[in-house]
Amino acid sequence: MCPYYYQPMDIRHIEAVDGEIVRGHLSFILNGDIQQVDNIPGDMTLLAWLRQTQGLTGSKEGCGEGDCGACTAVIARKQPDGRLAFTAVNSCILLMGMIEGCAVITVEGISAPDGMLHPCQQAMVAYHGSQCGFCTPGFVMSLYAAWCNGAGLDEIEIEQTLAGNLCRCTGYRPIIDAGRSLECQGMADWERQQHEVLSGLLDHIRHDEMIEIEAGGKRFSIPHTASEFARCVAEHPQAVIVAGATDIGLWITKQHRQMNHMIWTGYVREFHQIVTEENRLILPPAVTHQQAMAVLGDHWPAIKSLLVRFGSVQVRNSGTVCGNIANGSPIGDLPPALIAARASVRLRHADKERTLPLESFFIEYGKQDRQQGEFVSAIEIPLDAAPHLKCYKLSKRFDQDISAVMMAANITVDDGIITDAVLAFGGMAAIPKRAHHTEQALIGQRCELANFAAAAANLIQDFTPIADMRGSAEYRLQAAQNLVKKYGLEITGIALVALADRDAAKQLVS
Ligand SMILES: Cc1cc2nc3c(=O)[nH]c(=O)nc-3n(C[C@H](O)[C@H](O)[C@H](O)COP(=O)(O)OP(=O)(O)OC[C@H]3O[C@@H](n4cnc5c(N)ncnc54)[C@H](O)[C@@H]3O)c2cc1C
Ligand code: FES
Ligand code: FES
Repeated sequence: MCPYYYQPMDIRHIEAVDGEIVRGHLSFILNGDIQQVDNIPGDMTLLAWLRQTQGLTGSKEGCGEGDCGACTAVIARKQPDGRLAFTAVNSCILLMGMIEGCAVITVEGISAPDGMLHPCQQAMVAYHGSQCGFCTPGFVMSLYAAWCNGAGLDEIEIEQTLAGNLCRCTGYRPIIDAGRSLECQGMADWERQQHEVLSGLLDHIRHDEMIEIEAGGKRFSIPHTASEFARCVAEHPQAVIVAGATDIGLWITKQHRQMNHMIWTGYVREFHQIVTEENRLILPPAVTHQQAMAVLGDHWPAIKSLLVRFGSVQVRNSGTVCGNIANGSPIGDLPPALIAARASVRLRHADKERTLPLESFFIEYGKQDRQQGEFVSAIEIPLDAAPHLKCYKLSKRFDQDISAVMMAANITVDDGIITDAVLAFGGMAAIPKRAHHTEQALIGQRCELANFAAAAANLIQDFTPIADMRGSAEYRLQAAQNLVKKYGLEITGIALVALADRDAAKQLVS
């Protein structure tokens, strides 16, 4: 069938389990063809569907957990300003319901109409960027997303673009050279035309209505308004809320958890829109890390530097800020950063909403202050509360790694005296947690290095860290104390030791 053409759509409605009339199939575009599929289990991943039902085996399964990028596919979506945005995603942990209304492009779908290789493929050939070839489709698709967006191929960004793709045998230099070579090439007319048609097809398939797919007793609900979402969650408190599935995908592929009903945040347009309200930034449930990075970076460069090291482009394109808070992980990166920025969390149950300081959301390991039928409806960050915010992530690798220890610090200084302090840690307790004893030791002191060094000794009263594969208890405590001193060094202007900043890191090692 010839790709990139319009076809009439047959919208089929069904009666859902609870009696409501909903659309019973997914509509999306696959390599230029409109697809309408039903009878899909709610927990089926895009990679499984591509390989097992479509015979599209170009996307590989390496790790099955979002780490290696061998399964990278590209999702194109229409932006509010009408532009097409292309995002690289890990198809091994993306659920089928999450591609509703999108265009999916796999490595099989990017060649020219005459069958010639796409420039991203041709560059890999020309620069000898492939040996066994297992990783190659994933690299090509990461490059393809950057190529289509016209960003991410310059000297600094190329490493970010490819940080989520692992290659075991070629070595990265030829692959990076291949990517760099694309920066100076222009897009051919055939590809521009394809994008125009794709844009029209995306308008054609988007229908604002509730969708539900189900097979094998696994249901996936796709509400399309905030109130419909809130009602659905309130009526089905046992259902699992899905945002970017960068955690939930692993529950499916690695833990083989059975989830009978999932409700997705991502089809609600207003859940994607970051808004500024009464001097606060509001991040609703479907705002991804990649989307948040630009906006947060304008106000808090330290959070941007942290997010650059959060997973990979693929993980940041799917994973959400609210998901990182809602999962309550003690080693999540954003909870300490946002606690230090004095953020609050909004929780909604049907039409009722309540707000609480972010730090009180985390009660104990695996337990958050979220009632049955409630969901995280936004994270609020005051715009004027963190002039001295700094974030420090310690992990074994620079990119794509989970923190062993994470500290975010934010002090208020008045006339040389520390009048307020928040030191929030990840990896030091069963929940993201403030170091109250250490904070108290700082408050009232002059903002001088010696006082940070002295205050750091109090961390032993704040935390009894555990030992695990990421670090021993002794390492964690020592590292946390050093981070407090490092913050002192930076805040007093004695030294800038910003290893979380790729440019600064390069200068330090050169
Ligand atoms: C390869 C890889 C690298 C990663 N690197 C990092 C890293 O560097 N730092 C880090 O902190 N994390 C990392 N993660 C973990 C993960 O990406 C983050 O925790 C992410 O923010 C989760 O968001 P999500 O939207 O994907 O959540 P999902 O997986 O969709 O959901 C996570 C949990 O939150 C719940 N949930 C989601 N949204 C809501 C809501 N609005 N209301 C109520 N509950 C909700 C879900 O029910 C589920 O329990 C990584 C994951 C992978 C796979
Ligand atoms: S198979 Fe490794 S990231 Fe998907
Ligand atoms: S070419 Fe073999 S893993 Fe990359």
